[in-house]
Amino acid sequence: MEGIKQSLLVAVLAATLLLSPLVVSGDDDDTGSVKPVVKIVKGKKLCTKGWECKKLSQYCCNQTISDYFQAYQFENLFSKRNSPVAHAAGFWDYHSFITAAAEYQPHGFGTSGGKVTAMKEVAAFLGHVGSKTSCGYGVATGGPLAWGLCYNKEMSPSQSYCDDSFKYTYPCTPGVAYYGRGAIPLYWNYNYGKAGQALKVDLLNNPEHIENNATLAFQAAIWRWMTPDKKHQPSAHDVFVGNWKPTKNDTLAKRVPGFGATMNILYGDDVCGKGDDEHMNNMVSHYQYYLDLMGVGREEAGPHEVLSCGEQAAFNPSSGTPASTSTSS
Ligand SMILES: *[C@@H]1O[C@H](CO)[C@@H](O)[C@H](O)[C@H]1NC(C)=O
Ligand SMILES: *[C@@H]1O[C@H](CO)[C@@H](O)[C@H](O)[C@H]1NC(C)=O
Ligand SMILES: *[C@@H]1O[C@H](CO)[C@@H](O)[C@H](O)[C@H]1NC(C)=O
Repeated sequence: MEGIKQSLLVAVLAATLLLSPLVVSGDDDDTGSVKPVVKIVKGKKLCTKGWECKKLSQYCCNQTISDYFQAYQFENLFSKRNSPVAHAAGFWDYHSFITAAAEYQPHGFGTSGGKVTAMKEVAAFLGHVGSKTSCGYGVATGGPLAWGLCYNKEMSPSQSYCDDSFKYTYPCTPGVAYYGRGAIPLYWNYNYGKAGQALKVDLLNNPEHIENNATLAFQAAIWRWMTPDKKHQPSAHDVFVGNWKPTKNDTLAKRVPGFGATMNILYGDDVCGKGDDEHMNNMVSHYQYYLDLMGVGREEAGPHEVLSCGEQAAFNPSSGTPASTSTSS
């Protein structure tokens, strides 16, 4: 008892002393800069670890994201985002990403498994983000993959994305348009409604908050990554880090844990089950590029059938109605 108390005290002191230099320090300390404060609850080891991991959680005992993914790496991944021709220059930054991630690290975002799994998850999440926000087509300087986070909203929306069948649950506000905004862009009133509920921000009345606040934009994207579309289904996070065990039906539908399944969760048959789909390949390419830049290496991504969803049947097949329309829950 006394021993535990003492080591707790030491850990608290160590955490306090080390907390402030965490964000600015540029060194690559493999052991992590902040020592966890450990508690044993019902035989389970739970920790807190500074502001990135301030809720007691088993996931906070290992490294936090800023221990292995630092500002200079973010700059490398998104090197063209502040170029004069980018469409959201000055908007996206590292600090917004880490601040948004802090809410989800106690739930396992970027903190599940060992260091390699954690780094792969960040690369995979950002692979989706980079692909969805890229303006690096064709002959862009630096190559097409260097242009992630070029946008923070859809530039010429063709409609206002108001689905009136949700008028009782997520009614559209007159004069407001629910076009694509964010890091994994939200479209449609019902998606703004659900995200707003989860993040406790009134996005149905003020969807523009997403294009005005990079922290909120990253938060909405990480929320989407961490949250199943329907009850009893896995989230993109779950299928990626191995929380999800495929059923017989999943195996028959060629759904296996990995990056391919994250695209299946987020985009279904818009990109999956179509063989060599261009949008699917673009997401895979961003993921591989980021793995290389982060020093993990694309060979860690696994074989084709894990990376791709070209042969997978959708978790939620669309049935003629707008893609990813799900019942209100
Ligand atoms: C913490 O890291 C170890 C090895 O690095 C890993 O095996 C373990 O699963 C991690 N803990 C959690 C909760 O993910
Ligand atoms: C941006 O969003 C975050 C997260 O919701 C919030 O904490 C912060 O206050 C917002 N910033 C501004 C300037 O509104
Ligand atoms: C498995 O697939 C069959 C045939 O499509 C379906 O009838 C059944 O409900 C599915 N089982 C589960 C658990 O989803």
